[in-house]
Amino acid sequence: MRIGIIGGGAIGLLFASRLSGKHRVTLYTRTAKQASIINRAGIRLIENGESRVFSGIISKGLDEGITDQDLLITTVKQYHLPELLPAIKSIQVPLLFLQNGYGHISYLKQLQSPAIYVGVVEHGALRHDRNTVEHTGPGITRIASFKGDLDQLTLLNEDIAQFPFTKSEDYHSMLIGKLVVNAVINPLTAILNVENGGLITNAFYYRLFQALFEEISGILELRNKTESFEHVKSVCMATAGNRSSMLKDLENGRETEIDAILGHILSEAKRKGKSDCLTSSLYMMVKGKESQGG
Ligand code: PAF
Repeated sequence: MRIGIIGGGAIGLLFASRLSGKHRVTLYTRTAKQASIINRAGIRLIENGESRVFSGIISKGLDEGITDQDLLITTVKQYHLPELLPAIKSIQVPLLFLQNGYGHISYLKQLQSPAIYVGVVEHGALRHDRNTVEHTGPGITRIASFKGDLDQLTLLNEDIAQFPFTKSEDYHSMLIGKLVVNAVINPLTAILNVENGGLITNAFYYRLFQALFEEISGILELRNKTESFEHVKSVCMATAGNRSSMLKDLENGRETEIDAILGHILSEAKRKGKSDCLTSSLYMMVKGKESQGG
């Protein structure tokens, strides 16, 4: 199958290398420079302390245009999606979106493809340079249909070592489940400057963690609160040594995903007239740090 992957960040590089064993992968990058490095030197994947180079991947700058593909996977951050609209709006091939947050759901309504899927990535991945990615924590990619028949997505039946895909019946609960994980872990770790595990081991930070979960679960009216809390806690412990993506974004002076993550929760609080004290304070703290360059 011809698979196009849009975005040369950690997730784009990870998916391109892992899928290239079975598919003809084209990786579309923002800069021509990154594409030329990948075409010359391949993608280096570090896994379990070993490094492997995948050289069969074609890379192109996005401005060269998207060529014929059987599946197009977009891995760019949610705030970059509007720039992609002209290139993908009328594309008819199946599209798979792997963004955090929930805001991209309204964006998808503008697309003409008859098959649109959304996914959440539970792998840990860290980009070292333009063509090197480390798979820091094996996980799973959950996929649900936004539009069209999910059984047509052959990726779900493939057996790729340490790279499983699984089907979710309902995109809303799948995305909300991941949103709650990111909404609790990412802003707290970013502001407190701790690894994920620090939110559990430090008794004071754990109280904040509990209070934030309580507020968010009330705003989102989660039905399975106990289960959801245990899930967030288990992700935190399983990734105890990770610096969250939001903390890394601030450390590197990059834009964070705070609007995609807490922005959605704040608009839900406003719509439902719910209290959002802690969520809005954290939102402003992250925005403030972001605006001063980290
Ligand atoms: O954004 C992240 O860093 C990750 O999604 C997670 C699960 C919070 C682990 O660090």
